[in-house]
Amino acid sequence: MMNLRVLFLALLLLASPLLQVARCQSDAEDHSSLVDDIIGEHSDDSVEEDDQDLDMNLTSAPGVETVCVFPKNSAKLVPAGEETELLVGLKNDGKTSVGVMGIRASVHLPYDHKLLVQNLTMLRFNNASIPTSLQATFPYIFAVSQYLQPGAFDLVGYVIYDVEGKPYQSVFYNGTIEVVESGGLLSGESVFLITLGIGLLLLLGLWAYSQVQRLTKVNNWISFFFPVNHLYS
Ligand SMILES: *[C@@H]1O[C@H](CO)[C@@H](O)[C@H](O)[C@H]1NC(C)=O
Ligand SMILES: *[C@@H]1O[C@H](CO)[C@@H](O)[C@H](O)[C@H]1NC(C)=O
Ligand SMILES: *[C@@H]1O[C@H](CO)[C@@H](O)[C@H](O)[C@H]1NC(C)=O
Ligand SMILES: *[C@@H]1O[C@H](CO)[C@@H](O)[C@H](O)[C@H]1NC(C)=O
Repeated sequence: MMNLRVLFLALLLLASPLLQVARCQSDAEDHSSLVDDIIGEHSDDSVEEDDQDLDMNLTSAPGVETVCVFPKNSAKLVPAGEETELLVGLKNDGKTSVGVMGIRASVHLPYDHKLLVQNLTMLRFNNASIPTSLQATFPYIFAVSQYLQPGAFDLVGYVIYDVEGKPYQSVFYNGTIEVVESGGLLSGESVFLITLGIGLLLLLGLWAYSQVQRLTKVNNWISFFFPVNHLYS
């Protein structure tokens, strides 16, 4: 029994630095990707400065209707950090053709639209023309930050277009999306649980092994002193 306790302590001691290493590693990864993200955001900002012509306080043009579809995703699930696609349909019931210049979207807190969580990437088109009484569909692929907590957020999507040389914009979507944790990545907790599980299995194996050894030893002694017993066993 003493042996077992010593063994258990040794196992814990062995396992604890391992756990800490696992923790540190995931921490380090987090930080490096956080830096990447910040750098990424800065480069996004510089891109957005070119897009300032598409970033104005615009109204929608009469006769332009929009629809928005999340293909094969009626629950509007958006895995954090992964690309999600939605389709933006534009119908031109106006008198002149419409030139589509871009699509942009932002993520907001559902209970306060003034609180902007993230500006999503702008998708630019080279004035894609839609003649009168026709419609066109544009795919918009976006990824919300991998650091968003899972839960409900509001997505507001705009399509910016040009009618007779004047820019307009329409809101094609203003509603809830459900941000979910992206699969595949091991969290710190699961690493901890897996290590703990392996440690317990190892301990169980060692215990079983020591029991078998003890029993065979006892049996050997018994059969040594009482050879008759051997016949019964
Ligand atoms: C945007 O336009 C509306 C009216 O079209 C105006 O009331 C509002 O103040 C404008 N907002 C900004 C930020 O310019
Ligand atoms: C975009 O297309 C519309 C309609 O086809 C046209 O009136 C407008 O001049 C074009 N704008 C640019 C910047 O090319
Ligand atoms: C998002 O874009 C808006 C303008 O479209 C800008 O005013 C705001 O500062 C941007 N926010 C972030 C966090 O980049
Ligand atoms: C989106 O909807 C919310 C609430 O329904 C509203 O407060 C907000 O002004 C809307 N945003 C736009 C751009 O229409």
